[in-house]
Amino acid sequence: QVPKMIWASIGLLASLSLSSDSWCPASCQATSGPPGVAGLPGIKGDPGADGAPGKPGLNGQKGDQGDQGLCNCKDGEKGAEGIQGPLGMKGDQGDVGPTGLAGVDGQKGDKGDEGIIGPPGPCSPAIQSAFSARLENIYPVPDLPIPFTGVMYNLQFHFDPDRGVYKAPVNGTYVFSYHLVVFTKVLKVGLFHNFLPIVKSTEMVNLGLAAQQVILHLNMGDEVWLQVKDTANNGMFTSSESSSTFSGFLLYPDIEAM
Ligand SMILES: *[C@@H]1O[C@H](CO)[C@@H](O)[C@H](O)[C@H]1NC(C)=O
Repeated sequence: QVPKMIWASIGLLASLSLSSDSWCPASCQATSGPPGVAGLPGIKGDPGADGAPGKPGLNGQKGDQGDQGLCNCKDGEKGAEGIQGPLGMKGDQGDVGPTGLAGVDGQKGDKGDEGIIGPPGPCSPAIQSAFSARLENIYPVPDLPIPFTGVMYNLQFHFDPDRGVYKAPVNGTYVFSYHLVVFTKVLKVGLFHNFLPIVKSTEMVNLGLAAQQVILHLNMGDEVWLQVKDTANNGMFTSSESSSTFSGFLLYPDIEAM
């Protein structure tokens, strides 16, 4: 652009020089000459400082709704079965059921053991005990109490005729006696108190009599019986004309038992 301006200025200068002689002013008054030629443009100045930032613009209008997106999702495969949960809490107890039918009657129980005889009461009559029995089987078995099964008196049943044993019902003082007929064999017999012989008799005369009477103190439950020595000395006899007997009774109980 500078060369073009230069050319224009040169042209203007040429035209001025050509016409200066051809026209003449009407007066000699000084008049203004033609304007000078414009100087060359100056060098471009430095850029100005940055202006202040403008105000923020107003909010734009809301845009139109976009197209719906495509969905390519499908349902996944069924997952594995879950683990069984923990056991639930126990429920409440149910109602009581109806009463069942009665069972069959049970069998009768065994007979209980015999109880021990109690002591007499403070105002009861004094305890009584007595027995008397005959021999019914001759030549009794040795080393065992001799049975006296021909019972003549045994109201309190303290004498067992089949075993031939008397059992003391209370602590006390007792009387025992025997009168035993001998026949064809020697008789050696003893009266025993709890396996201890108290008195003994030996008799060898046919239809003779072996006899004793003793007074003993017994504790409750003590036992008394007669016993022959052996089979060579068991000539204890009985017949319709000759009886062998064993008897006993409580004379009196101990003071503390009354
Ligand atoms: C019988 O006598 C025994 C021995 O002396 C004694 O331990 C017991 O307590 C007495 N029983 C009665 C009922 O008196």
